[in-house]
Amino acid sequence: MIMTKSPHEIEIMREAGKVVAACHAELAKFIRPGITTLEIDTFVESYITRHGMEPAQKGYNGYPFAACTSVNDVICHGFPSTYRLKDGDIITVDMVAKHKGLHADSAWSYAVGDISPQARHLMVVTHRALFVGIEQAVVGNHLSDIGHAIQTYVESEGLSVVRDYIGHGIGREMHEDPQVLHYGPPHKGIRLRKGLAITIEPMVNTGTYETKVDSDGWTVRTKDGGLSIQYEHTLVITDNGPDILTAL
Ligand code: MF3
Ligand code: CO
Repeated sequence: MIMTKSPHEIEIMREAGKVVAACHAELAKFIRPGITTLEIDTFVESYITRHGMEPAQKGYNGYPFAACTSVNDVICHGFPSTYRLKDGDIITVDMVAKHKGLHADSAWSYAVGDISPQARHLMVVTHRALFVGIEQAVVGNHLSDIGHAIQTYVESEGLSVVRDYIGHGIGREMHEDPQVLHYGPPHKGIRLRKGLAITIEPMVNTGTYETKVDSDGWTVRTKDGGLSIQYEHTLVITDNGPDILTAL
């Protein structure tokens, strides 16, 4: 069942989203060669709890950390570890804050030192792909218009869109209906309506879109070892267009 959010619920989600966005802004200064992904996780957990909210990924379906830290060929759900980031790495950090029973979810990507032109192109295109999708999140469009726009743009840049992991409705649960695909035909699925809160979170690869999961049961990698990057916002559909809740 697809539930829309009340104005009150949306304002609580915006409070959570602002903390997530501010944490990402701090991470942009914190992430550099030599720090470990575990230090990023500690930073995220303390930032969210210091603001009186819960790091909702921790314990979700048994996920052990506050943050997902996905480096280079890791697509999503990368475990924080003692791995030290090195010059040229690219990393996606995903986090969710829970506040007064409601969630805000955002992933952002960071370049570590100087990165290759290929990695830079991947980051620029994936960031743009998020906003190409968000532009479609307007009342009266079909749900699949979001994914169609993202896939069309990403493939025009010679990159591929991950199929196995998708966006979602969000609110009292981290993951609610509807499923938000980042690929597919236009004009399918439900009509977007006022008060619908979703994430849009394209994962984009340099090579194949196919995935594989490590023996830890979580870490998702590109099947061919190519690079992957993700950007994600939580947003709500309004009569005045998409309202991004995980922005400052
Ligand atoms: N934040 C992720 C998403 O975008 C969820 C990661 S699964 C978790 O949906 F277990 F780490 F929470
Ligand atoms: Co999400």
